Amino acid sequence: MSNYHIKHLEEYFQVYRKSVRNPEAFWEEIAEEHFLWRKKWDNVLSWDFSKPEVKWFENAKLNITENCIDRHLTTRGEKTAILFEPNNPNEEAQHISYYELHKRVCKMANVLKENGVKKGDRVCIYLPMIPELAVSLLACARIGAIHSVVFAGFSSNALATRINDSDCKLVITSDGSFRGKKSIDLKGIVDVALNDCPGVKTVLVAKRTNAEITMVEGRDKWLQPLLDEAYGDCVAEIMDAEDPLFILYTSGSTGTPKGMVHTTGGYMVYTAYTFKNIFQYKENDIYWCTADIGWITGHSYIVYGPLANGATTVMFEGVPSYPDFGRFWEVVEKHKVTQFYTAPTAIRALAKENMDFVENHDLSSLKVLGSVGEPINEEAWHWYNNNVGKNNSPVVDTWWQTETGGIMISPIPYVTPTTPTYATLPFIGIQPALMDENGQEVKGNQVEGRLCIKYPWPSIARTIWGNHERYRDTYFSAYKDKYFTGDGALRDGVGYYRITGRVDDVIIVSGHNLGTAPIEDTINEHPAVAESAIVGFPHDVKGNALYGYVILKEFGETRDRDNLRNEINQQITEHIGPIAKLDKIQFVTGLPKTRSGKIMRRILRKIASNDTGNLGDISTLLNPEIVKEIMDNSL
Ligand code: WT7
Repeated sequence: MSNYHIKHLEEYFQVYRKSVRNPEAFWEEIAEEHFLWRKKWDNVLSWDFSKPEVKWFENAKLNITENCIDRHLTTRGEKTAILFEPNNPNEEAQHISYYELHKRVCKMANVLKENGVKKGDRVCIYLPMIPELAVSLLACARIGAIHSVVFAGFSSNALATRINDSDCKLVITSDGSFRGKKSIDLKGIVDVALNDCPGVKTVLVAKRTNAEITMVEGRDKWLQPLLDEAYGDCVAEIMDAEDPLFILYTSGSTGTPKGMVHTTGGYMVYTAYTFKNIFQYKENDIYWCTADIGWITGHSYIVYGPLANGATTVMFEGVPSYPDFGRFWEVVEKHKVTQFYTAPTAIRALAKENMDFVENHDLSSLKVLGSVGEPINEEAWHWYNNNVGKNNSPVVDTWWQTETGGIMISPIPYVTPTTPTYATLPFIGIQPALMDENGQEVKGNQVEGRLCIKYPWPSIARTIWGNHERYRDTYFSAYKDKYFTGDGALRDGVGYYRITGRVDDVIIVSGHNLGTAPIEDTINEHPAVAESAIVGFPHDVKGNALYGYVILKEFGETRDRDNLRNEINQQITEHIGPIAKLDKIQFVTGLPKTRSGKIMRRILRKIASNDTGNLGDISTLLNPEIVKEIMDNSL
């Protein structure tokens, strides 16, 4: 028997040992016993991190939607697959059964086909958290099209960049979206983006807000009438295990966003297996992840992982603060949610509000509390554990990345004893390593280093779309034959991992991964700006907030500073999205630079964090005198 469901600590250690002693045999057994393959693999794994190349389940054939939907129809046809909770609490929730999901996905798949989408084509999905979003992902997978979901909070500029990078020929969007009290003109954003996207031939528009929008003739089509007419069954395209399933963009520390490519077989196996264990999912549980499907968390742990296990997965359209700060807990009570998975930034925001918002709701259905996206600080961990979990639902702090596809380091609830702020132990099959500055692995416990992974796991991203060299340079060149995560970590006396944060120029704001370079590039486009540098500084709700140091051109010096600040943030909102806005902008006459011209962000970070006691050696700077000026005028 395979070890699909781990139930106690001894078993974890035993299965872990097995999974690292012979990973191929281990994953073969899991894959064989728990999934539907049209043809089995010739070889479980071949890999070479120097190229890098990783292939799992070579030459196996499958369709992931048959695993996520069809195979449940005989046993769970009437069971709710997706439980949709609308933004407005007075609008009725929708219970979409597996049977209904099958029909909706097939219809959508047929609409895509009728609009010329073929296997291997890229489809951009820019939708709010409504059922059509999940259905669109699955419809693409049904016919072998590669979906590229762009979070519907991104600006038209960011959307256009992503559409063009992967040559999407069709976009699925909606007339608008609801977020709390606001409604947002999504279609308008798409229209602006498409001015720069000549490759897009068709836009399918779902109706959500009934806002008045313009439909471009010959390009834009209302989705619903097409779905109404479409046939309710669609033969699943037979895919190779290594065929791309989707592209999802993540920011890098430099350059354009990276289109991480995930493939089919390994991704399915790993997301399903982690979901089962890390949420201790049992039949009849009601699982809720509050992320947006526009992020990897939503792909893996709202859509694919839960559905592959035949689970009921909640999709929430709204925000934690609407109609009031009790909304999360109201929804938990209403749907008797058993597993709840959210981000530290949401926990910190809710912890600031009146305790009545939590206490007025019956949260006794909860069994597991998940956290993801950034390090969870001690205070937030305890608040979550005490007030939401009533010391009765383990907090699972799950560390992973867009690139890893699935959770990598995490406690298994009711199995791994938890320690606040620790992601604890590597999941089954994951072989972490901590590296020192000399590129040597730091062995033993009570040590710190840069976090790498030594051996492939099934859901590792295979490449960056259109740029394999960048993939190699970013993840496989820092340490020989290892995947470098970009994070620092420590391993305590019992071997538990604690993630200490990014060691590169990526800043995590409210759990969102933001690269400094694209933001700086945007600021530098302002006509009055000569140069800029962005750093993160601690923020009690967002985890990190952005602090910008801006050098003005000579004529800019005469401009009103607050107006300039607003214009810079406006420009960031337009080019990237509101999540990348700066909390503080300090105008400076220079930036601390090394003799080779590299900005010393370390120093700026310390100043921004009011941690100027030990700035380190600044005498080697090209312009050491600038440090005092920046400190004296620090905001
Ligand atoms: C980066 C990846 C994986 C889904 C959401 C983010 C940080 C993520 C944790 C955690 C400490 C965490 C890391 C990582 N991060 N989870 N539990 N503890 N840090 O995906 O946007 O690709 O960001 O988020 O720095 O490298 P992402």
